[in-house]
Amino acid sequence: MKKKISLLMCLVLIFSAFTGCDINFNGITAPTTEKSTTAAVEAAATERAATTQVTTTAATTAAPTTPTTVTTTITTTTKKPATTKETTTKVPATVPTTKAPEKIKKPDTDRIKDGDKIIALTFDDGPSKYTARLLDILEENGAHATFFVLGNRAKNNSELLKRMLDEGHEIGSHTWDHTSFAKLSYSSALENMKKSTNAIKKASGKKPVLVRPPYGAMSDSLKYAATMQDQAIITWSVDPRDWDTKNPDTVYNKIMSKASNGDIILCHDIHKSTVDAMERVIPDLIDEGYKLVTVSELLTYERDELTAGKVYSKR
Ligand code: NI
Repeated sequence: MKKKISLLMCLVLIFSAFTGCDINFNGITAPTTEKSTTAAVEAAATERAATTQVTTTAATTAAPTTPTTVTTTITTTTKKPATTKETTTKVPATVPTTKAPEKIKKPDTDRIKDGDKIIALTFDDGPSKYTARLLDILEENGAHATFFVLGNRAKNNSELLKRMLDEGHEIGSHTWDHTSFAKLSYSSALENMKKSTNAIKKASGKKPVLVRPPYGAMSDSLKYAATMQDQAIITWSVDPRDWDTKNPDTVYNKIMSKASNGDIILCHDIHKSTVDAMERVIPDLIDEGYKLVTVSELLTYERDELTAGKVYSKR
């Protein structure tokens, strides 16, 4: 009799596999949108013999591309209070999709000659009302610099950004709003970076290939977002702390005493004192034999290319 029932059940199951029908046995419903396997083992609380019931539900997943959740529940009821063990394996909906880091080619300029001593001046957090004067100073001295602009300042400063590129300077991203990326999630980091990249591209006409993290804060999400945005991460090797001192003489002295061949110098064009200091820093560095070049020029002088997502602080 038992054999006959088993045979009948097998036939029904085979039939359902061919037809795709959902079959309910004793109120057990097979879900059609989620793949789940539940094994519940209940031991009756009788001392001598336990009755065991095993319930299994399984159904084919409607859309195999949707995140899969596998839940295994084992419930054991004995004399002791019931204990439940649950293991859940979840595949998050937004797994960072990594890709091979893009190579960033040498810029299309020919300003560095063999044996040149080179320095890259960089200006963060702008543009500001002082940036135009800084561009005048650079132009008067035949010098070039890199501006790490905030994405949220790009839209209203389109003319300044275009002037920077026209005059041979480089524009990098300093993120959308100067958020620290130290504890940012992958998705937030990418969203912030993308927003900035797009705003700068729209305002200047060129997509930035460099990003400088606010506060120099490093994180995996920063590196991930930079890789996805095809941007190299740029820090610095000389910090005159111009934002702190706000004194042109101090800024001048710190740069002149510390800067040497291959350095990347961190400054901010949102302070009048910094632009005042540049009136002397730029011509005096040139007098000392330095050529003032962009970050991409400096970094690719001895490299064929840069790698997106990688950190660079010096030649
Ligand atoms: Ni900054």
